[in-house]
Amino acid sequence: MNVNNRTIFSNDNLHILRGLDTQSVDLIYLDPPFNSNRNYSAPIGSEAAGAAFKDTWTLSDVDNAWHGEIADREPALYQAIHTAELTHGRGMKSYLIMMGVRLLEMKRVLKETGSIYLHCDPTASHYLKVIMDSIFGKNNYRSEITWKRATSTQKGSQHRSLQWGNNADMLLYYAASSDTSLRPERELTEAEIHKKFKHVDENGERYYNDSSHIWSTPNMGERPNLCYEWRGFVNPHPSGWRLSKERLEEEYQKGNFVIRPDGKLERRKYLKDYKGASYGNIWDDVLPPAGDERTGYPTQKPIALLDRIIKASTNKDETVLDPFCGCATTCVAAERLQRQWIGIDIFPKAVELVKYRLEKEVGFFGKIISREDIPKRSEKLPNYQTHKHTLYGKQEGTCNGCQTHFPFRNMTVDHIIPQKHGGTDHEDNLQLLCGACNSTKGTGTQAELIAKLKEQGVL
Ligand SMILES: C[S@@+](CC[C@H](N)C(=O)[O-])C[C@H]1O[C@@H](n2cnc3c(N)ncnc32)[C@H](O)[C@@H]1O
Ligand SMILES: [Zn+2]
Repeated sequence: MNVNNRTIFSNDNLHILRGLDTQSVDLIYLDPPFNSNRNYSAPIGSEAAGAAFKDTWTLSDVDNAWHGEIADREPALYQAIHTAELTHGRGMKSYLIMMGVRLLEMKRVLKETGSIYLHCDPTASHYLKVIMDSIFGKNNYRSEITWKRATSTQKGSQHRSLQWGNNADMLLYYAASSDTSLRPERELTEAEIHKKFKHVDENGERYYNDSSHIWSTPNMGERPNLCYEWRGFVNPHPSGWRLSKERLEEEYQKGNFVIRPDGKLERRKYLKDYKGASYGNIWDDVLPPAGDERTGYPTQKPIALLDRIIKASTNKDETVLDPFCGCATTCVAAERLQRQWIGIDIFPKAVELVKYRLEKEVGFFGKIISREDIPKRSEKLPNYQTHKHTLYGKQEGTCNGCQTHFPFRNMTVDHIIPQKHGGTDHEDNLQLLCGACNSTKGTGTQAELIAKLKEQGVL
């Protein structure tokens, strides 16, 4: 990984993502703007005062280059976005283009064993799922989690309600590959233990009576192999026992079958052998941030939500990335769990909030790296042509010579210091020129090109 632990970037995440090494991150949690046609802002005087971010999208927001990039890299994604435009309109299209280019980069930076959770709401969740299928692959879809973020919703004033209260968000969980693992287990609460494991044996061990699973039920049909006599017990019905004679004797020795003083046979399931319950995909037990945890940041998510995700999908010291980190909830949760983390937010205040929260909530006073610059990838890049789209975005479609706007196809990749003179294929040494400017430059320097263009009256 070419970025240090505990780094917060204040910049557009697209630029930063493009600068992160390929397959370098174990978990990505993203909570992007939802296209909800709202503009959020934090109340003045709160920790997050001054925070505001746009949550409406129009095509003018969208860099032309992204379009071309998506068509080029991911035709299926392009089609999916096109369909969303037909069914939902141009605002959705531009939102999905914004998300699509970023998700493509996230796919690249995620390790083969990594996981990604896309937090969204019903405004766009159905389109985002199609987009996730096309980028991460339908076979890597694992779960759609419904998070109950509020207990009830306000009644629609004096107006007639036209929809059910909207109190849930969705999290789309995808694995990077079949090598991705997950630990969805949870521990039982005291109350659940007392309810489920009602009895206590002579050694103080909790168990429940599972005697309904001694015999096979008649609807299982005749099972002659399982009809036998054991210590004087026999099932008169031809469906027989649940277990083979050997297994039954084994279980008896372990104390899981007991012959009671009244002569009855009892089967027991002990708490100590209990494998644990798994969280389902409806999370109604994670409460929205309250009290001291609240920073006033609009759309702040609870640490408990991130805690569950990070525990289930990473190990200690692994790297968590949140490209829309807001008031840095993910970073705080990751720090607490001794994971490495990187946060990105276009809104510079995130840096202060993460420092403030790490001190207050984790007692962490160590060094946090705050950056705005785009990191340099340490990996060897395959071919300088792969930079064409990035460069097109960076230059906003304008030729670096004549300063004229050109369509993507009319641009050529130029080595600022020519290869002949030792110039490298590194992104820093690359720019886009229109065909005419490129041939004017030839193997000359950039300064020479500018001089020639001035001479010709182009500049
Ligand atoms: C829904 S909020 C995230 C809230 C966060 N999960 C928390 O608990 O505080 C979305 C965030 O995305 C940021 N954002 C929007 N567009 C961005 C972009 N292109 N690059 C980086 N951050 C962006 C906004 O500034 C905002 O903080
Ligand atoms: Zn030009």
